[in-house]
Amino acid sequence: MENWKAQSISLDLTDPNAHFSDVSLTAEDVAVIAVPSYAGRVPAPAVQRLTAMQGNGARAVLVCVYGNRAYEDTLVELEDAAVQAGFQVVAGVAAIAEHSIAHQYAAGRPDSQDKQQLQDFGQKIWDKLQAGDHSQPALPGNRPYKKAGGVGMVPKPSKDCNRCGLCAQQCPVQAIDPADPSRTDKELCISCMRCVAVCPKGARKVNPVMLTAAQVALKKVCSDRKEGELFL
Ligand SMILES: Cc1cc2nc3c(=O)[nH]c(=O)nc-3n(C[C@H](O)[C@H](O)[C@H](O)COP(=O)(O)O)c2cc1C
Ligand code: SF4
Ligand code: SF4
Repeated sequence: MENWKAQSISLDLTDPNAHFSDVSLTAEDVAVIAVPSYAGRVPAPAVQRLTAMQGNGARAVLVCVYGNRAYEDTLVELEDAAVQAGFQVVAGVAAIAEHSIAHQYAAGRPDSQDKQQLQDFGQKIWDKLQAGDHSQPALPGNRPYKKAGGVGMVPKPSKDCNRCGLCAQQCPVQAIDPADPSRTDKELCISCMRCVAVCPKGARKVNPVMLTAAQVALKKVCSDRKEGELFL
């Protein structure tokens, strides 16, 4: 929304080459910090990168995006990381987007209804800030957080791969060897599926048996429509 666009700059938490420790805000700034929920937690590299920044009292709006299952402890973990980095949390949002592993769940979301709701949330947060209200909202989630669990799905290239290197370039944790994209460090991979999404040849895929098992396991918990939530 227009109010939020004045003098805004973007920082990409998925950029492995960015120098997050050089990022220093002021108490006049408002940061919108958005992460996906992976297994009900904040992806570990995002926590590392966020906590390297210096918030210096900047107000923070926390956004957790999830694939219509649940986001469990994502918002409280994000809150703790933001506070550790020196931000002052003033709002939290949980929003729904298409599931990046099992695309049939929350397909097409955010839809027009979601977008309207997010606009309304933006207005309410803006109004809170304009009123000089810097109170910290109560966010849902547990401490200690649920155990972090990787989904263990490491995509691999098929014979259609022409070694263009785009997947290696775009991987948020540099898990793919740029000299040989068939080599992926499974310890580093966070199963984010970006390499699958960006491959121009449609050559990068996860094991189909694992994918089907995940789709079946998620069916019951992902099928009913969840709505966005605002915490002020
Ligand atoms: C490794 C992984 C774990 C995920 N875990 C959850 C989850 O616990 N709950 C949920 O609702 N969605 C989950 N999702 C779906 C994402 O949260 C959802 O697709 C998100 O909106 C978009 O993530 P992206 O920006 O990484 O594509 C997961 C996705 C991935 C790749
Ligand atoms: S993006 Fe696709 S085609 Fe390019 S190197 Fe990666 S897997 Fe191969
Ligand atoms: S799924 Fe692909 S892009 Fe994501 S971390 Fe693993 S190798 Fe990198």
